[in-house]
Amino acid sequence: MNKGFVRILLGLLFYGVLSTISAQSVETTMVNTGKRPVVLVTNKETPEKGINKLRLKCDVIFPENHPATRDEILELAGQVDGIMWVGHMLLNGEVLDRGGSRLKAISTMSAGMDYVDIDEFRKRKFPLGYTPIVLNDAVADSAIGLMIAAGRRFHEGRLAIDQSQWTGGPQWMLGQDIKGSTVGIIGMGGIGQTIARRLKGFEIGQLLYTGRRPKPEAEALGAKMVPQAELLQESDYIFIAVPLTNETHHLINESALAKMKRTAVLVNVARGDIVDQKALVAALKNGTIFAAGLDVTTPEPLPADDELLSLPNAVVIPHLGSATVQTRDNMAEIAALNVLAGIAGTPMFSPYPY
Ligand code: DGY
Repeated sequence: MNKGFVRILLGLLFYGVLSTISAQSVETTMVNTGKRPVVLVTNKETPEKGINKLRLKCDVIFPENHPATRDEILELAGQVDGIMWVGHMLLNGEVLDRGGSRLKAISTMSAGMDYVDIDEFRKRKFPLGYTPIVLNDAVADSAIGLMIAAGRRFHEGRLAIDQSQWTGGPQWMLGQDIKGSTVGIIGMGGIGQTIARRLKGFEIGQLLYTGRRPKPEAEALGAKMVPQAELLQESDYIFIAVPLTNETHHLINESALAKMKRTAVLVNVARGDIVDQKALVAALKNGTIFAAGLDVTTPEPLPADDELLSLPNAVVIPHLGSATVQTRDNMAEIAALNVLAGIAGTPMFSPYPY
């Protein structure tokens, strides 16, 4: 069965029967030792939907501090059977070592796993879950929002009002058209495909994408796979929707930016480190590209005095991609089900494919 198909099946399963089937299967498969397992949830603000799922079968503990310190998480790791790892703190062999033989399963509450030492989990065959798919819609929505905001100069326009510079006129504050444009998506995974589906309503001219191999799902959406250089040169709007790895670190650097059109709009909803931010600031300042819409930056949180924030043609939001009530509830529920399944020694609802 190919991976795409498996993901669609998982998605259908989630939307249709998540609460009933999953809770029941966990109920029936968890080994009854007479003692309730204990799960550490590393962030006190984790949605109740997930916590309640855990409480069906486990006792739940939280770190005292908010945000939690690494030290207290490491300390608590040795006292629990499972961990719901909420946030982007480094998750590595040290956590597994401190968890010792009692710790049976960990699930993150994220799709991106760049802060996880996957090799360590693979080596130990340690059950690891994550929460992709459910956030595709919310992240794609924010990508489209950034595309419009950056292409149509929303931030710059607002600054003009604030600074009493609202002059108006037929040549004032003109932006880039979306209708008829060429759009390039770097990374045609679930989020990239969801962005592509959203774009259908905008009557764009052409959709390009890059990837290791052609994706039938992308071709079905009318997208054409091209080499990266071609995508950079041809696109009016460029979306970054690829995971951060050693290969994608600073994928968009000075030389990549130089290939783009001077009218290009770059949107990043993946991870800040995929873009060389220094090079991007320079490109936005000297007109190498037109504008950028960024949900992710380096570092996060971005200090208020960062130069990026002083640029009128940079629309920057604080990593809000998956930040909707329903999406975060769903992510918390899936992470909880992963942990419960892992503790029970059964396959996770959404295992990380290491
Ligand atoms: C993810 O899940 O990776 C999103 O970036 C939110 O953290």
